[in-house]
Amino acid sequence: MENKKLLEEISKRRIFGIISHPDAGKTTLTEKLLLHGGAIREAGTVKAQKNSKFAKSDWMEIEKQRGISVTSSVMQFEYDGKVVSIMDTPGHNDFGEDTYRVLTSVDSAVMVIDAAKGIEPQTKKLFQVCRLRGIPIFTFINKLDRQAKDPLELMEELEEVLGMPSVAVTWPIGSGMQFEGVYDRLASEVHLFRKDEVVQLGEDGVQGSELEGYLEEANLTNLRDEVDLLEGAGNEFDLELIQQGELTPVFFGTALADFGITPFLNHFLDMSPTPGNRKTTTGEVSPTDSTFSGFIFKIQANMNPAHRDRIAFLRVCSGTFERGMNVTLTRTGKSIKLSQSTQLMANDRETVNEAFAGDVIGIYDSGTYQIGDTLVGGKQKLFFEPLPTFPPELFLKVSPINSMKSKHFHKGVEQLAQEGAIQVYKNEFNDVILGAVGRLQFEVFEYRLKNEYNSEVRMESIDYTLARWVKTDDPKSLKKYQGLRNMLVFDNYERPLFLFANEFTLSRFQENNPELELVEALDVN
Ligand code: G4P
Repeated sequence: MENKKLLEEISKRRIFGIISHPDAGKTTLTEKLLLHGGAIREAGTVKAQKNSKFAKSDWMEIEKQRGISVTSSVMQFEYDGKVVSIMDTPGHNDFGEDTYRVLTSVDSAVMVIDAAKGIEPQTKKLFQVCRLRGIPIFTFINKLDRQAKDPLELMEELEEVLGMPSVAVTWPIGSGMQFEGVYDRLASEVHLFRKDEVVQLGEDGVQGSELEGYLEEANLTNLRDEVDLLEGAGNEFDLELIQQGELTPVFFGTALADFGITPFLNHFLDMSPTPGNRKTTTGEVSPTDSTFSGFIFKIQANMNPAHRDRIAFLRVCSGTFERGMNVTLTRTGKSIKLSQSTQLMANDRETVNEAFAGDVIGIYDSGTYQIGDTLVGGKQKLFFEPLPTFPPELFLKVSPINSMKSKHFHKGVEQLAQEGAIQVYKNEFNDVILGAVGRLQFEVFEYRLKNEYNSEVRMESIDYTLARWVKTDDPKSLKKYQGLRNMLVFDNYERPLFLFANEFTLSRFQENNPELELVEALDVN
């Protein structure tokens, strides 16, 4: 009985993140999806949150900003019998390691592309993180209400720039001023733009007469030619390949005008996978296992600086979470009662009493958890695969302004490193070097050290942009490789790495020292 309910709940769950380059339309699409799901009532809600960017000098604002990003971290809604969770993947100024790590918690990703711009750098980076995990990627090509690139060219770009075969599920009819709708190839129907009308096609599809009179002559001819090409030379639709993350289904539309979203959402919910098995260090866990298990992929400080409380985000991987249950933190073997838990919705936080595999919950943390921690019901010794460390691209040297307060400084540095807010390295002189993938990580670091640890810091720029870990059993032997153009440092786990100024100095270093195995990323633990 219990198991039947669990199975049912799991099969309803869909959890995904939206990846895009800033301004491609992620916020607008998120908002439209929430509107369709009835999670918000007014357009502008998500947008308003995004625009509340903080000025560096305004500490109240940063609090507000952080509060907002807590509550919008997971947006859940029900649609067509499914429980859909959208995980926020911070972009713009908030881009950081969290953005990458969130992608370890999802079962699929939606990639939003601006139809006039094609693939942009940040999309590519995030795409690669998804690709590494082998999760299905759904492509939404946005802003068709504006002059767009040729859709066939866009499809080619996907294959060439990302190396991912694609299959068009919907197809645009014109763009910009000439945009007239999208053709849904699977449903064999055409959604007309600005007319709120759907034309069902006969067995000849777009070649039949059904569309005549509905579309501009030139658009119809063009559509027929393009569909001919797609049918002749395009990839075939293959659900298995899509679910294996080997083929991306492509949709077209305009998020701003809320057009093309309905066919996208319906197909997406049909095609996207339900929560699957998760790898542990000792085998796989199935979502239907009756024992509860999950892992922590993000930790966020509380908005109230008077308390050092944090919220740890846990992806449920198996079984049922019940409020008040006892779990074991397998890293320490400690038993913990999970009484304060929240589900983090678009606008308010609600306490959750029950959650299933495929849900994300926020749990109250007074400094107990680390990124990558596994929690299990009962006493099982289980560890989910470690989360990857992502190579930082920005580095700073940091020290306390008041050296009398260096104890506070070091405590704060250690805690923030543990939280995964920033990467912390030390060189042979015990200098503290910070590494980040986004600038905001530095600003939040500086702010939190001041406010939570009473330590004002001096940040100095250093000329390094690349980090490479070294695989070695004898870290001490690395000292002799230290030079003017690199710096040997140790991370929070005492693992050695070298910092380099640029690609050139890195490749010179590698050429001169072929015996060293340099790697871009390492697993935590
Ligand atoms: P992001 O989260 O990916 O950064 O993008 P966001 O949704 O904020 O969209 C970036 C800009 O693109 C916004 O304009 C938004 O209105 C616009 N936009 C999004 N989808 C579409 C679309 O389908 N068609 C057109 N024409 N524009 C679209 P903005 O001027 O920066 O903001 P606003 O002043 O319009 O709010």
